[in-house]
Amino acid sequence: MSRRSRAVAEAETYYDSAAADAFYRNIWGGEDLHLGIYARPDEDIGTASRRTVDTMAGQLPDLGPKRTVIDLGSGYGGSARVLAAQHRARVTCLNLSETQNELNRARNDAAGLSDLVTVVHGSFEDIPEPAATFDVAWSQDAILHSGNRTRVLDEVRRVLKPGGRFIFTDPMQADDCPPGVLQPILERIHLDSFASFSFYREELSKRGFTEISVTPLTSHLRTHYARVGEDLRARYDEIVGLSGRDYVDAMLAGLARWVDGADKGYLTWGILHFMKAA
Ligand SMILES: C[S@@+](CC[C@H](N)C(=O)[O-])C[C@H]1O[C@@H](n2cnc3c(N)ncnc32)[C@H](O)[C@@H]1O
Repeated sequence: MSRRSRAVAEAETYYDSAAADAFYRNIWGGEDLHLGIYARPDEDIGTASRRTVDTMAGQLPDLGPKRTVIDLGSGYGGSARVLAAQHRARVTCLNLSETQNELNRARNDAAGLSDLVTVVHGSFEDIPEPAATFDVAWSQDAILHSGNRTRVLDEVRRVLKPGGRFIFTDPMQADDCPPGVLQPILERIHLDSFASFSFYREELSKRGFTEISVTPLTSHLRTHYARVGEDLRARYDEIVGLSGRDYVDAMLAGLARWVDGADKGYLTWGILHFMKAA
């Protein structure tokens, strides 16, 4: 495959599919599609998901009307709308799924935010933006889908202004994860590997980034996948009607594997915040 990795083609087909779109729109309400930070294990997914956005935004003290942000793998654009509505930041949503981008554009129009949020179809392995354009590169639970993560990091460095911030979350494998144990999860989402905290630290350091903070939040990964499983079981017939029984049953089995991987200490998740050299 040319410049795109095979994983990118798999992700595009998956997220554009009617079954995946119906599942994600309904379980997250068409706003977010990322892991939440839970105040209680039974908290609703939307509230916890919004807390992740607010926690990340809170790490960017000078977010405001003069700031430009690129959201890499922006899903339905819920985070971009928070950054635009609450902070008046100018946000470019870069996302592979045009199915999601259409809803993102419609919601931006409805919220009167189209002047602040621009939605671009493309891949973060080959960002269609000029060098040194953005103050902030933001990403939530999307870079795992790359088959060439070092290339994504090269692209992040290229499009950030000197001194720009890179803040992101990603489901990862633990630094001490035994080889092979995550293979069933990787196969289901068509990936060869996960990143890890040490991978991002080493690769970003090689690219001249300084670590601002790395915040492990792994217990929330476990809570999140368990909560999604609970909601899906509670709405089983409704979501089967939208996404099909095969999709829903495979999703429930997949979610159980994520919970098990977290319980065994193989998986991890958190907020990583770095600064490009000034
Ligand atoms: C788990 S969802 C997270 C969406 C969004 N960040 C959020 O927090 O709601 C992963 C997203 O990554 C996007 N994605 C996957 N691979 C991509 C790529 N190579 N370039 C751009 N977007 C990608 C998918 O379209 C999907 O929207």
